[in-house]
Amino acid sequence: MSLRRLLLPCASVLLAASAFAATPASDAEIETAVEKLLSKMTLAEKLGQMSQRHYALKPQTEITISEEAVRQSQVGSFLNPDSAETVNQLQRIAVEESRLKIPLIFGLDVIHGYRTLFPIPLGQSCSWNPELIAAAARVAAIEASSAGIRWTFAPMLDVTHDPRWGRVAETLGEDPFLTSQLGAAMVRGFQGQNLADPQSIAACAKHYVGYGAAEGGRDYNTTLIPEAELRNIYLPSFKAAKDAGIQTFMSAFNDLNGVPTSANPFTLRQILRKEWAFDGFVVSDWNSVKELIPHGFAADERDAARLGIIGGVDMEMVSTNFREHGEALLHDGAISQAMIDDAVRRILRVKFRLGLFSNPYTDTKSPSVLLTEENLRIARELTTQSMVLLKNEPRVLPLSPEGKTIAVLGPLADSATDMRGCWSCAAKIEECRTVYSVFKDYVSPTTRVLYAPGLATAGSKDTKGIAAAVKAARKADVVVLCIGEGHELSGEARCRAFLDLPGAQQELVDAVAATGKPLVLVIFGGRPLTFSRAADSAQAILYAWHPGTMAGPAICDLLFGRTNPSGKLTTTFPRTVGQIPIYYNHKNTGRPTSFEEEKLGLPIGTPQNTIGYYSRYLDVHSTPAFPFGFGLSYTTFAYTDLKLSQPDANGVLTATVAITNTGAREGTEVVQLYTRQFVGSLTRPIKELKGFQRVALKVGEKRTVTFAVTPQSLGYFVDGGKFIVEPGRYQLWIGGDSASGLSTPFVLKP
Ligand code: NOJ
Repeated sequence: MSLRRLLLPCASVLLAASAFAATPASDAEIETAVEKLLSKMTLAEKLGQMSQRHYALKPQTEITISEEAVRQSQVGSFLNPDSAETVNQLQRIAVEESRLKIPLIFGLDVIHGYRTLFPIPLGQSCSWNPELIAAAARVAAIEASSAGIRWTFAPMLDVTHDPRWGRVAETLGEDPFLTSQLGAAMVRGFQGQNLADPQSIAACAKHYVGYGAAEGGRDYNTTLIPEAELRNIYLPSFKAAKDAGIQTFMSAFNDLNGVPTSANPFTLRQILRKEWAFDGFVVSDWNSVKELIPHGFAADERDAARLGIIGGVDMEMVSTNFREHGEALLHDGAISQAMIDDAVRRILRVKFRLGLFSNPYTDTKSPSVLLTEENLRIARELTTQSMVLLKNEPRVLPLSPEGKTIAVLGPLADSATDMRGCWSCAAKIEECRTVYSVFKDYVSPTTRVLYAPGLATAGSKDTKGIAAAVKAARKADVVVLCIGEGHELSGEARCRAFLDLPGAQQELVDAVAATGKPLVLVIFGGRPLTFSRAADSAQAILYAWHPGTMAGPAICDLLFGRTNPSGKLTTTFPRTVGQIPIYYNHKNTGRPTSFEEEKLGLPIGTPQNTIGYYSRYLDVHSTPAFPFGFGLSYTTFAYTDLKLSQPDANGVLTATVAITNTGAREGTEVVQLYTRQFVGSLTRPIKELKGFQRVALKVGEKRTVTFAVTPQSLGYFVDGGKFIVEPGRYQLWIGGDSASGLSTPFVLKP
């Protein structure tokens, strides 16, 4: 099945859906149906719609409580139901036994796949492939909806500059433009072309907003973001999701400039509703309404309900303050009827759009859509594209399948559990394929494959297994050492102050490297790790993230050259934690570090700072370990003939560049376009990504790639929310990463 086909609604499903003639089809019909229903609802029923509960399977009394709450119209949504049967049972009570028969909406964190696991979002983003990411989200929607899930809490659209933050794994990288493109692709994949298709699920833009700027990279921490920065860096991906038709937003845990984002009229009412005209609904993050109390923003639960509702939260996740205090607040005039009605209207609208009123049940009879061959094929393709070749010098990759003896070593070589990543949903550990489990399928029958984990787990400090790994390495012609961060160190609340290889892994690398055998590192992780010493002792490094179900096949496809690596980093890799925050689109400062001086090898670590008073550290280079956009291939690409046209009648510039595959293999290059505005009303970043294209080239093939640079794309927000495009001097680069490329200056005329 082609990707295109996957993104189209399934014809048979549409036919089935259309059998429910009662579905209001047009926007106007939906609005009429919403108003009609709203006019019949009691206040308690309205507050019920604004309430989302966590579905707990145990003890049995919890189930009974949930069912009774549905019968009494005290709940509008559940998260985390365990099966389609549970969904149908609760839905049956809602649409047959509750007074107004309003269906429930069931949500789940389908973040990087449901049963078929794709790489963590940060990994997916390294494919720079919106179409493929959309296809993966479509697969996730089809799988999840078969279990009654019609709402995912994804995509995560937070931008961060801090890999200490465990949730960097869930981001789509550090760049607002790329995050916007890829986030919108996910929305298209989840929601499909028709939301009422039972295989489409509503998406949720989270965590609105600024959550990725948590101070010190510590989860849930305070954020301080000037308005211009908020609008230029943190909001664009959310706006792109809104423009892609996303149905829901999730307010975040963090306080933003002193106002918690789950009670923030500026972001939720002024920007989201007024400026962007968003007509779906906002769900709070888990308990985040109640957490207004520890934030020191609300005095008690009643106050939290008041602030959450006034702030612009429509549905409260888990905590029950709206339901418990809404009536008294309204009675006392602390909130208005219009606020309640607006929230309920939005929730009902989304339920109508999803077709839940006419088609509330989940079909449990159709053949399984889980983990199908096609789902696995898409997972394998995306997984190979997500991995980044960081080093291959001297060239040891691709490995020869005819090699005599290969040692597959390391605690992550055969750890299915660590392949899963931070949100494993319905995936089963044993379904995740490891490197070692598939390695033999890639080599000739005469090749010996030796295996030794060296350490029992990635975090283990017990070094007694290292000797066996060294022994295997000595017998081998080449070593593939699988190391990195276990899945439990990445994700929500998994922040780290040290980003080195956990446990005794550095000792393992040192011992294996000391054998002198050619060393290939496969590094897993939910974030950029710092591994300079390991990198120096290896000839090749493949950064594999947490890859999901198809980890092993994707890695071996790349190691053996069945597929040529094409992934490029979407976060800057620091040399050391002390460089954080480090990101490519930073400001220049009045005293920029002279990279030239660093390249000349002038001293670092000299107390006198002999090369002058620049914005830099004395004890580490200012450049990162690996820059944003970086990634190697088994072939090479040459960039020539950069040309920039004069502006057309609309001020649009056309940039062209020729790219030639100058190596000996077919390959795909992610061509990146950056610009810089030299002088602005506010200081401007030294580079900003404005375009990218994946270009596949045969050996020797030369292709001209064209980008349009609109004046709009060069503009930015200043304080007060004003968007400006300023005439003046600019520079444009086209290249294979953010630290290289051909460039040309240009002047934007008034
Ligand atoms: C808390 C997390 O911050 C959010 O990302 C998630 O969607 C909710 N829990 C629901 O599980």
